[in-house]
Amino acid sequence: MRSIQSAAWALALAVLALAGCSREPSPDAATPVPTKETAVAADRDEHSYAEPTQVVVDDLALDLDLDFDSRTLAGTATYTLDWKDDNATELVLDTRALTIERVEGEADGQWSPLQFALDAPHLTLGSRLAIQVPQRNARVRVTYRTSPEASGLQWLTPEMTEGKRLPFMFSQSQQIHARSWVPLQDTPAVRYTYSATIRTRPDVMVLMSADNDPAAQRDGEYAFRMPQRIPSYLMAIAAGDLVFEPISARSGVWAEPAMVERAVAEFADTEKMIAATEALYGPYRWERYDLLVLPPSFPYGGMENPRLSFITPTVIVGDKSLVSLIAHELAHSWSGNLVTFASAKHGWLNEGVTSYVENRIVEALYGKEFSDMEFVIAREALKDNIGDMPEATQALAVKPGTELDADDALSAVAYDKGAWFLQFLEERYGRETFDAFLRGYFDHFAFQSVTTEQFLAYAKEHLFDPNPGKTTEAEIQEWVYAPGIPASAPQVMSPRLGLVDSARLAWLGSAQLPPQQLTAEWTTQEWIHFLEGLPPTLSQEQMAQLDTAYAFTGTPNGELAMRWYPLAVRSGYMLAFEPMTQFLQTVGRRKLILPIYAALVETPEGLALAREVFERARPGSHPITAASVQRIIDEAKPKPAAPAGAEAPEAPVDPADAQATGG
Ligand code: BES
Ligand code: ZN
Repeated sequence: MRSIQSAAWALALAVLALAGCSREPSPDAATPVPTKETAVAADRDEHSYAEPTQVVVDDLALDLDLDFDSRTLAGTATYTLDWKDDNATELVLDTRALTIERVEGEADGQWSPLQFALDAPHLTLGSRLAIQVPQRNARVRVTYRTSPEASGLQWLTPEMTEGKRLPFMFSQSQQIHARSWVPLQDTPAVRYTYSATIRTRPDVMVLMSADNDPAAQRDGEYAFRMPQRIPSYLMAIAAGDLVFEPISARSGVWAEPAMVERAVAEFADTEKMIAATEALYGPYRWERYDLLVLPPSFPYGGMENPRLSFITPTVIVGDKSLVSLIAHELAHSWSGNLVTFASAKHGWLNEGVTSYVENRIVEALYGKEFSDMEFVIAREALKDNIGDMPEATQALAVKPGTELDADDALSAVAYDKGAWFLQFLEERYGRETFDAFLRGYFDHFAFQSVTTEQFLAYAKEHLFDPNPGKTTEAEIQEWVYAPGIPASAPQVMSPRLGLVDSARLAWLGSAQLPPQQLTAEWTTQEWIHFLEGLPPTLSQEQMAQLDTAYAFTGTPNGELAMRWYPLAVRSGYMLAFEPMTQFLQTVGRRKLILPIYAALVETPEGLALAREVFERARPGSHPITAASVQRIIDEAKPKPAAPAGAEAPEAPVDPADAQATGG
């Protein structure tokens, strides 16, 4: 049975891959809206076993015990179903490492057992759970428990928290980890409402991506409702010693007590950000917007869980210089949570549109000079990297069959090329027209999941056709379906970063550090740019001079650490190694630590150090981060120390790991 299904799955993927070939960019394409067969192929979410054309989950009700001792969630998930196909009698759910104890269907208030089969796990997709529902019941209930190793949950002992008093746990469901803690149709093509009752020890606070009450009392039993339809990757839960401090009437910060004041000060502009986004794109539709500050092991910078963005503590640097992360997660309340990509292949619809909106929010709050710096930094990185990526992943719309590892599916292309495409459209159509278009797009597709093709069809009708002569179809095709960066890409200049270039160049030439009055004014962005533009290695004297002047080693600013430590590794600057290993053992944000591991594994000694550090970091690290680090170590091809004059073999680092910005 299983092997037939695997074969069928492989065949389906092959067919999708072939269908994708017809979507090669063609400069003389007649229309930006692709053919029907490619649109159909694009509709299949390769990361899910669910069959939403047969039946969809309309509402989910969870009733779970959250137990820190056994590191499990256990209880029931009850689905209200909408049977789509008249002949369908099977409900297929995604699961990963779940124990399924019982499945029942309801008829006339009575629950009776249903037959089910749980397949052997697929390496990345988990186990297909097929439930036979011959009566096509409107309600089905699964009794299950999670594994202590659930890929979407991290369980922390009290020692691993800021306060060291209570244990902590949190989820990270995107891209396909919700299935490791709830059996689900784990595809963004399906949206449903949910409710939950969670029981745990009475001294622990529980929050979800739902209607959290800022005044909730701790008593060990918590009830939640999410009345707006959301896709599975936005399911979220966190539990620990969490307290609330308001920022405004509708927003505030949840954090451990020792963290909450600093977080509120850093994120004080959140209400202004909400208001600025509403002015651009219409009302915020999710009632409250709160932030949850997680332990440093959180694998991402932020996660846009509805009503409660999850945030890394690594952006709390004391000067608000990294709060564009909040603008980004907030922007997802429009691009992503309201209008959702139909599958990760359309990642740019979430992350590219969001990065564009993020930049508009940052511009509204902190001015164009600042937002331009952020645009330039992102684009420089994209320009540096895109050429090394496989051609298939350089296009905004990823062809069916291209990606299988969901954790690496969103690269700088989705984020920065996506945002660049929208900026190109803004420039050609003018801000007023383009803003109205984007606002209309959010309204039109509100609470729906869309494909690139639907975006393009909507754009054709509401932007391209009503405003002829501003862009050509060839230009649009190139932006969406071709590799590389189109020649039509608007250039952004940043005089402030230009000054940094001059300062760096002068120092490299003369060993004269820039004047203190200049660098005293530099923000994180200028320092990032300074470091990014340095040659791959520096001499010991150069490293020491910079370090003495600017104290990069041991910096609490992760954005600088992620750039300084790889330089230190390549330059053999040993003084940085101890603080670097400390950093790698505390921080779990993939974007900040993967470049350091990638630099380490380029030499045999570095690889040995990487293994040693990871050994120590592993017990406190998140399953998603641990898997990424393990992959870098496993795939390492260190350059053997070459005898002088000999040609050393190339040791490429997997660009998927080194460049993923969804980290
Ligand atoms: N939704 C992403 C995080 C994500 C992407 C998780 C793909 C899993 C798979 C989130 O909104 C995000 O983009 N975070 C970035 C923020 C940055 C671009 C400002 C991050 O974590 O670094
Ligand atoms: Zn994002």
